[in-house]
Order: sequence, then C-alpha cells, then structure tokens
Amino acid sequence: MSGEGEDAGATAGIAVEALTEAEAARELARLAEVIARADRAYHGRDAPEISDAAYDALKRRNAAIEARFPALVRPDSPSARVGAAPAEGFGKVVHAQPMLSLENGFAEADIADFDARIRRYLNLAPDAPLAYTAEPKIDGLSLSLRYEGGRLVQAATRGDGSTGENVTANARTVADIPATLHGAPEILEVRGEVYMRHADFAALNARQAAAGERTFANPRNAAAGSLRQLDATITAARPLHFFAYGWGELSAPLAATQWDAVARLAALGFATNPLMRRCQGVAALAAYWREVEAQRASLGYDIDGVVFKLDDLALQRRLGVRATTPRWALAQKFSAERAWTRIEAIDIQVGRTGALSPVARLTPVTVGGVVVSNATLHNEDYIAGRDARGAPIRGGRDIRVGDWVQVYRAGDVIPKVADVDLARRPPGTQPFVFPDRCPECGSAALREPGDSVRRCTGGLACPAQAVERLKHFVSRGAFDIEGLGARTIEAFWAEGWLREPADIFTLEARHGAELRAREGWGEKSAANLFAAIAARRTIPLDRLIFALGIRHVGEVAARLLARHYGSWAAFEAAMTSAEVGRGPAWEELVAIDGVGEVLATSVVTAFHQPAERALVDRLVAELSVEPVAPAAAADSPLAGKTIVFTGTLARMTRAEAKARAEALGAKVAGSVSARTDLVVAGPGAGSKAAKAAELGVQVIDEDAWTALIGAG
Ligand code: IVH
Repeated sequence: MSGEGEDAGATAGIAVEALTEAEAARELARLAEVIARADRAYHGRDAPEISDAAYDALKRRNAAIEARFPALVRPDSPSARVGAAPAEGFGKVVHAQPMLSLENGFAEADIADFDARIRRYLNLAPDAPLAYTAEPKIDGLSLSLRYEGGRLVQAATRGDGSTGENVTANARTVADIPATLHGAPEILEVRGEVYMRHADFAALNARQAAAGERTFANPRNAAAGSLRQLDATITAARPLHFFAYGWGELSAPLAATQWDAVARLAALGFATNPLMRRCQGVAALAAYWREVEAQRASLGYDIDGVVFKLDDLALQRRLGVRATTPRWALAQKFSAERAWTRIEAIDIQVGRTGALSPVARLTPVTVGGVVVSNATLHNEDYIAGRDARGAPIRGGRDIRVGDWVQVYRAGDVIPKVADVDLARRPPGTQPFVFPDRCPECGSAALREPGDSVRRCTGGLACPAQAVERLKHFVSRGAFDIEGLGARTIEAFWAEGWLREPADIFTLEARHGAELRAREGWGEKSAANLFAAIAARRTIPLDRLIFALGIRHVGEVAARLLARHYGSWAAFEAAMTSAEVGRGPAWEELVAIDGVGEVLATSVVTAFHQPAERALVDRLVAELSVEPVAPAAAADSPLAGKTIVFTGTLARMTRAEAKARAEALGAKVAGSVSARTDLVVAGPGAGSKAAKAAELGVQVIDEDAWTALIGAG
C-alpha cells in the first residue's frame, strides 16, 4: 500500500491545487529547507545532491504554492534568493548590479506566454514586429568580469546574486578571458558562463583518477570546482572556457540592441556563442529551441536549454526585473522526458480489484521537469522481460533491484520503465521473484489463464483491497467528499473507524465526539467533514455506480449504465436478475452501446457475490439515489423510447444513428419486442420490420427518422 506517514515530507506528494492552507504552510517550510540545502551543496561545495531539473521542479512547486497562498510566503522564501551565500575562503564582492536568474519555460506554450506577456506589458499588438535573440543556455557557472580602463580588475562568481566570491586570480588563468581590452567603455562588467568541454572533462577526470584524486560528476561541477580553487595555479591547469552573453555596470552603453551589444563584446575579444541568432515571432523561437536541442549532443559542451532575450535594450529597460528575474528573458529548458536512474526496491501494491502491481522505487530523477521516484513495472512478465504471450521484450532482459533503468513519462500517466542497462548491473543481483501470496493479507495471489495480472483472492477480507476501495469511493468522479481524501481514509482505517463505504455515513454517530476532540481536527474541521458527508447522502446514480469500484466500470461505463437504467431500482433489479451469457436482462445489458461482455460479466458477477451484495445494500440504505435522466432533454421526441434499426441507412452509419438516438435519450435495442417503441427500417429490412408490424410497433423510414432527429 502506498500509505505515507505523517512525517515532515507528508505534504510532498500532494498536488498544489489539492493543498489545504495548513498543508501549504508545511510544504513551503519543507521546500525552503530542501532548496536551501541544495543551494548550499551546489554553490558551496560543488557537489549537488539533486539534479538541476529536480531543483527547478522544487523551485517551481514553491512558486506555484506561493502564487496560490500569497499570505504564506516565508521571509526565507527560496523565490527571493538567487543562489547561496558565498563560501568561506574567498573575499566577498558586492555586485554593482545584481546577477539575475532566469525564468524557466518547459513547453512551447511557455514561449507564447512569454511573448504575450511582453506585448501586454508594452501594449504592443500581437502582430507588431518584435525581435528576440536566441542562444544556448550554457550549463556552467556564471561569472562577472569587471574591467576598468580596459584592464581586468575583478572577477566574481554569482554567489547569492548580490554578493559573490572574488575569484580574480583564478579568472586570469582562463584563456578565453582577456586581461586587457581595447576600445572598451571606461567601466565594463562582462557577464557570461565558465564551462568545461566534454573532451576536457573526460581527460581531467582520467588524470584525477590516475592521481588518486576525486573525480567530478559532470562538467559543470568540474568547472565550478576548478574556478573556485584557493590556489590559482590549480585553476590554471584546468581547461576552462568562457562565453560572454551579457553585462553589468557600464560607463557607456555598448549598443542599442542585445544582438549588437554581444557583437561588440565579440569585437572586444570575448568568445560569444556561435549559435546565437536573432528571431522574430514565437514560431521562430520554438523552431530554434528544437533545432538547438537536436544539436545538443554534438556541441561538445553541456547546455540545458536556450535563452531568449528581447533584442531592443530600450524595451528591456522598460520591462525591468521582478524579484530575481528579468521580464525580458526566458530560459527555455529542454525536456528530459527520459532519464536513467537506479531501482532501489520493487514493491508490490495491491489495488482495489486485488491486482498485484509491481512498483519500482527509484533514486529520484527528473523527467520532463518532474521529479520521479516511482515507476510502474506493469506485471511479472514485464519484469521478467517477456510479453503476455511469452515473447521477449527488451531483448529478453529482466529487471532487478539495483539495476539502472530508463524511465519516461507519457502524458500525465504514471512514469514507466523503458529499458534496463545490463552493463551497469551490479554483481550479485538476483532475478525478481514475483510473490504468489498477497503481501497485504497473505491470501493466495492467482493468475487466471490469459490474464497478465496476478490477483489477491482475499476479496474484501484483504485490507489493501478494502482501503483502496474506500479511497476510490471518495475519489473525484465518485462521492468526492471534501475533507475525506486518501490520507484521511488511511488514518480512519488505521483507527478501525472505516471498513466499508456505508461506514462513512455512520461515522458521525459512531465517532463524531472522538473526532471533534482529536488533535489536528477540532470542532470546525470535524463539522465541515460531517457536513460534506451529509451533503453526499444524495448522490446521482452514475456516481454511485462508479463509486462501487466494480472492475472495468469506469466513469464512462457508469454513466452509460446509469443513463440506460435510469434509477437505482431498475439497475439493481436488472443486475440481480441477469445471468452471465444468457437471458433478456443479459441481452439488454450487452446491447448498451459501449458495454462489452467483459464489463457486463464483471457487473453481473459482482451483484451475485453475497458479501459484495450485502456491502452494496448496506451502503444504499444510507443514501438517496438520484435518478439519471437520459442524455437528451426531456422534451426530445425520443426520450425514454426504445428504438430498433433494421435494413440499410443511406445517410448515416448504423453506429451514428445509434449514437444520435442515444444522445436524444432513446435506448437502442437489437431486437424487436413488445417493449419496442419505434423501428427505423431502411431498404432490405426483413424479419424485424415484419415482427414490428405484427406487434403493432410504429415503423418509419429513413426520411422520417432524419426529420424526427432534426438532421435533415
Ligand atoms: S542571461 C539577466 N544567457 O543561466 C540574465 N544566462 O538560470 C542573466 N546562463 O544565471 C543571465 N547561459 O548562469 C544568460 N546564454 C545565457 C546563459 C545564461 C547560461 C545561466 C546563467 C544564469 C542562469 C539562469
């Protein structure tokens, strides 16, 4: 089971929109601490504990929560800090102008938003020409170089954005950094990125390893570690490079545009990035982003995105800066939709239908801007490296605890494991043995022939299934009870207060007083919870059917069933009388468009299991179930009618005719009976039309049908 305790990280997994105010405050406190720790590791010791993308994700989460709860913004909020305070050992430098950070974009829509925001701010029409510069975002460390009278007098790291470290002696050893300039303004602060090329990084690490010295995790750390050496002769021996892309204090402007200013820096002798380009319009910026991403692996140095800057410096000045980021620039990151990480453990979760689902617990890694620490492994065949028919997948490579795996996210779904790297498999690992007993209740876990999933046979006696069913019961498309989320369900389960859905509606009578007196709850939240529960005693039929958690009955199927049967009494009577595979009730069920035999079998079987049935009855006794009107307006001529189509229709397919009829509130049946209201007969209609005539059922042709549904 996925139960997280009430530890400090308990708010970490909650979606921003779902946080209560108290949870948001706790989460902001946690983020402030985690981000500060990451800042210290990153800036202070050159040894990051989390990836840049994971760090970005934390900062974005922090910003999103702050945007939702502005009153909760902390004095030590990470959004008010750019980096970390300077490390001990170097002199401090207060930047004449702060060294800013950049706002991040991740999707193409972020580029359009960026452009639209700027246009709004400047009151420019959407089609007014507006130029941007576009350039790679170098994954190194930023440096500010101060020249006075054409001579390099000071070099400083970014530090916390306002105060950095004095690394002048070290910077003087970097070949790309000129010691003197000719024709520069009297005061010129050049800003750019110190980085290490891949080949130099590999050679440095090889030398370090040979000398028994520590190696670096990546080129960025190597660059930072090299620049921030107290002994500048070590820096001199390290292959560092520098790209200039901006400036700080100036005694005279460099140019009127970003483009020309960077060209001026190049003319003064600085290395500037050769991929820099001027672009007009969102489409060109997006194309540049994709183009540079395609070249990413062949550049020879690390980049983690591109940076767009408004070209016109006068407009840049008008836009100005927010707390730590300029309004005129955007760092458009590359998506890391796939990432490699290690499997620390494989857990088995038991779902509400008893399915045993293997979940890989991963060393956290960022995938497409989201930190991923769990991924589904689907089922035992997938782990073993074969498909449901026994054919090899991934070349037959199995997945083990300790393996390096590639994870990916497809849409919003749970991350998945795409591949495993056998070359990195640690010695001594064992194939994963899939349990044949439920890890929650110990019942046998069986795999039916043709099913890829192993299921616990414990039914409602299995606590995992019971809890998961309760969570499903209160979920959004089901009873959606405010204040009764998954975590509270787990807590109430642990108390023994809830065992099945009906218990929710007797909770106040049984444990109201205790809950009101409970720490962390109190009178008000308990009252709110009981009011929310009471409000759901009246529930629409489709929600109730979905909430029952019957296998294969999702929200769509629940709605189909509800619309077809209309009331709980009709639905319950039909399911009770139905027999799997035969009889009129079964025929009616499988005739519902969208209801297949698998779904029908599942529902009918559920209603015939005594324990299940008793549970449903206890629940319904607590409720008032609202009937669901057929899809159409009540005044539709077809509302509530049963229609049979026969013969060929010229103007629409049978499927479309059926969909139109159902949209207008009719039921479509496959055969004519005394309950049929209308038969639509096209050319070639045979026995059904004859039967209708015999029973006195109205028969119309396609023209009349078209007129009836208003589709002429
Ligand atoms: S412009 C006011 N341009 O990215 C704008 N920054 O995430 C200041 N970076 O602190 C930065 N490549 O260390 C700019 N082409 C580029 C960059 C770049 C890398 C770094 C820089 C900055 C950080 C922000």
